[in-house]
Amino acid sequence: VQSKRVYLISTTASPAQAIDLREDRLPPLDPGEVRVRVAYAPVNPADLLLLTGRHLYRPTLPAPVGIEGAGYVEACGAGVELLAPGALVALPFGGTWAQHVVMKASDVVPLPAGFDPQQASMLSVNPVTAAGLLEGVSPGAWVAQNAANSAVGRLIGGLAAGRGVHVVDIVRSEAAAETLRADGKTAVVVDGDGLGERVRAAAQGAPIVRALDAVAGTASARLFSALADEGTLICYGLLSDDRVVLPAAEVVFRGITVRGFSRSRMLRGLSQAAARRLYAELAALVAGGLTTVVDRVFPLSQVSEALVHAAREGRSGKVLLDCAGAQHIGPDE
Ligand SMILES: NC(=O)c1ccc[n+]([C@@H]2O[C@H](COP(=O)([O-])OP(=O)(O)OC[C@H]3O[C@@H](n4cnc5c(N)ncnc54)[C@H](OP(=O)(O)O)[C@@H]3O)[C@@H](O)[C@H]2O)c1
Repeated sequence: VQSKRVYLISTTASPAQAIDLREDRLPPLDPGEVRVRVAYAPVNPADLLLLTGRHLYRPTLPAPVGIEGAGYVEACGAGVELLAPGALVALPFGGTWAQHVVMKASDVVPLPAGFDPQQASMLSVNPVTAAGLLEGVSPGAWVAQNAANSAVGRLIGGLAAGRGVHVVDIVRSEAAAETLRADGKTAVVVDGDGLGERVRAAAQGAPIVRALDAVAGTASARLFSALADEGTLICYGLLSDDRVVLPAAEVVFRGITVRGFSRSRMLRGLSQAAARRLYAELAALVAGGLTTVVDRVFPLSQVSEALVHAAREGRSGKVLLDCAGAQHIGPDE
């Protein structure tokens, strides 16, 4: 089978110039493998980190790109029993910006017939991350999060509401705050001076036990200032900066825990059965309405344009690649 795939060829160019769309011949399937015709794959911030050399993972170049996606099983190798051609599967890793991927059948996530393939393509990274970031927070407790209008931020809001956890949402612009308020969020503040005080006011003085930081840089210190003594700051993104800036004396004398979070590390710590249960639970929530907004869909052939658009401020949702090659939908520039 001939198939097109996006390769990372340089980490010193801009993302749009760092890639090349190449045609490969796929090898025959080994036992236990499936070939999946990719339907959609999102452009995630982690993809952009990888393309610009800011990710800790530095692959040997040229390297396949795309950390998640979804598609339809096209062919099964010997011994594959639980999947059949035509099944929709989420692809939790592995070079998904491609027309096809070949994976072990045990690594793909089977989804029920009728599941939205666009939502399926965004199931493996952000919903899992949102669930991981809220793990251990008790019902009734308050957390605060920055980049709250991101896909992860909105999923955190949805999951928290279902668990009785309260969230103060922090965004970087008044326009983003208005959008969240229009969605029914009541505790929304814009990042900036006096953030800690404003977050505590939004929580009506309740202690903020956990703060979720996707931004890094000096935003970490502003978010941190909202935390109650002995609270936990979880750093899970570096949207603004490669450093986390924190006031040392406050970390020390207020007994704050600072830790990182990585979705792939979390998944590596789960048994296959536990990961399956988590995906099934999240897929049911997504099917029930915990969906991620899509801003624009670009055909795989326009991957460079998709990357330029994904880097823009103020998108209304995710940028997806249509790997099956349909025309792009959404407003013209
Ligand atoms: N650690 C993990 O395992 C893991 C897993 C998944 C995601 N993440 C992280 O989670 C974060 C959100 O990912 P996503 O896929 O949900 O993003 P997304 O939907 O693609 O949206 C990106 C969001 O980030 C906001 N943003 C960008 N730069 C910012 C800055 N300098 N300051 C404040 N906000 C900024 C944008 O706000 P505007 O609307 O204002 O432009 C937008 O809401 C990223 O940092 C990502 O790397 C981490």
